[in-house]
Amino acid sequence: MSEASRKRAVVTGACSGIGLEVARALAARGWDLCVCSEREDRLRSAANELRAQHGASVDEVVLDLTVVANAKALYDRATEDGRRVDALVLNAGFFFFGEVADADPSRAERMLSLHVVVPSLLCTYFARDFRELRAGNVLIVSSISAFRDFPGIAHYASSKKYLRAFAASLRCELAVYDVGVTCLLPGATATALYDRDVVPVELATRLGVMMPAERVAREGVEAMLRKDAECIPGAFNRVVTGSIGWVPQGAIDALRKWGPWLKKP
Ligand SMILES: NC(=O)c1ccc[n+]([C@@H]2O[C@H](COP(=O)([O-])OP(=O)(O)OC[C@H]3O[C@@H](n4cnc5c(N)ncnc54)[C@H](OP(=O)(O)O)[C@@H]3O)[C@@H](O)[C@H]2O)c1
Repeated sequence: MSEASRKRAVVTGACSGIGLEVARALAARGWDLCVCSEREDRLRSAANELRAQHGASVDEVVLDLTVVANAKALYDRATEDGRRVDALVLNAGFFFFGEVADADPSRAERMLSLHVVVPSLLCTYFARDFRELRAGNVLIVSSISAFRDFPGIAHYASSKKYLRAFAASLRCELAVYDVGVTCLLPGATATALYDRDVVPVELATRLGVMMPAERVAREGVEAMLRKDAECIPGAFNRVVTGSIGWVPQGAIDALRKWGPWLKKP
């Protein structure tokens, strides 16, 4: 493929987990990349691997995307010298569990910036270019936690709910310009999102409770390229999301009251 005909994607949170697998899947299809994460050493080794394995041209952008001003900084770096971007993958995220009343306010603020404010601003910057080009793809990584409200994950799941709703509106706006917007809604996936001292990730993967990140990413990339509206990887997760609305609120309240995970009222 000639340099000019190669497509190029921006992937946030590309140094591990689902984001790294999305970058690998795109590079394997002949895409070039602009990868962004916070930790320089891990991003560098991911970028080197993508270059060595797939011959991709990879730009590394080390930024803390909990800082709102860094949305514009990433856009500027990704498009400097007039470089074209064909796809935007908004994947960077982190997780914490606990009551809202116990949350570290600065941690909660960083999560809301990373999951809500910065992805929204990145969509504004890149959507202007995609609209002008009459081409482009956006893949927004939400979560199946967006389908029902549970105690202990109020900040996380509500931010993922926002991303799902935002993706649906943006999709409707951009479809008339031939720009695709896809929301990826993974269930439990074996990545560094979980503290392995607390969550038995290997066992959960062997039992099929957690999916490998590679499969989640592959299904997400295929859905993005088909311009699907949403992608829920895994039959089990599709059954869960289809039926979770039927669980009575009383059962969730009882779980909160009697489950060992949160403080008792
Ligand atoms: N794993 C699951 O079960 C699951 C389920 C549903 C949805 N998701 C979503 O999938 C996405 C990817 O998570 P993952 O499971 O692949 O976990 P992961 O392996 O921990 O990857 C998270 C990525 O986000 C980046 N990131 C975190 N904070 C950042 C910051 N402040 N600035 C820039 N980059 C930052 C990380 O880079 P650094 O290491 O450099 O910080 C890393 O590359 C998240 O949005 C998550 O909510 C995951």
